[in-house]
Amino acid sequence: MLVPSIRRLKEQRDAALNQAAALTRRLGEFEASIAKAPVGAGADLDAVVNIAVERALSAMRTEYTALPRFAYHLPLDHEMQTLPPRFDPPVRVSGESLPLPPPAERHGHMADDVAYLDWGKYDHDLILGFIRRALLSVDKLNVMDFGCSSGRVLRHFQTEVQEHGWTLTGVDVSARRIEWMRRNFPPEFQVYTGSILPIMPFESNSFDVIYGSSVFTHIKFLWDMWLLELRRILKPGGVLIQSIHTENAWNFFAQHGQESWAQDALGPMIINHKELPDDFV
Ligand SMILES: C[S@@+](CC[C@H](N)C(=O)[O-])C[C@H]1O[C@@H](n2cnc3c(N)ncnc32)[C@H](O)[C@@H]1O
Repeated sequence: MLVPSIRRLKEQRDAALNQAAALTRRLGEFEASIAKAPVGAGADLDAVVNIAVERALSAMRTEYTALPRFAYHLPLDHEMQTLPPRFDPPVRVSGESLPLPPPAERHGHMADDVAYLDWGKYDHDLILGFIRRALLSVDKLNVMDFGCSSGRVLRHFQTEVQEHGWTLTGVDVSARRIEWMRRNFPPEFQVYTGSILPIMPFESNSFDVIYGSSVFTHIKFLWDMWLLELRRILKPGGVLIQSIHTENAWNFFAQHGQESWAQDALGPMIINHKELPDDFV
């Protein structure tokens, strides 16, 4: 399962060839712009060349912005190309002590505030149920949400912080979502930008529970090493809960794809493909 399919390799090769072709086109335009440069009496040749070189460099940088997106984490300026990142104002819902991320920071999860909260709470309750069944006591647990995004599920564990003295940690490869949480959640939510490589900045035997909702579904490579790394930082006897999107889930969504909840919650990628297209999504 860890070996990328030939089809995927071909897709990557074609994408790289397209990039190279676009770059060659830009360089051609650059050469043409130099050829057309007004080198008449009084024209400053150096200035003309400098401007043309600047333009070509800027075109090349634009071509290659795809590269950092596949680097070790998604940098802060990944989506908005602004540094420091600018966010829409947080959403306040009456009765909620924590702000909600604006829809743009919900990582594809519901724009509807009530649905966003309800689904997060549903996942929280499910995970808490697993933890209660697995551990003798739920007091003073050190808990990590692996792939926490902007805290859709983690936010609901604030109750356990207050009632059971839990310590909460969130890690996500998307620096932008982590930055949003850092700015908008209280410091009891310790959040870190992670990496696409299976190395985490925590000592061995640190966590009683590590859960991750729909994260392994999106990890392409090194699944076994990720499991080993999560095991390293999990205390002996600790609980690891990771959801994965199997053929069963895919069939379920295919059967219910026309229902309104599915239309609201699932992207076209899922609705339009009757079969799981790959080992990951
Ligand atoms: C479908 S979203 C789910 C987000 C969140 N768990 C939830 O249920 O709302 C998948 C998340 O996994 C994160 N992710 C993917 N690979 C990761 C990695 N290697 N380390 C940390 N987070 C990762 C993505 O950035 C994204 O936030």
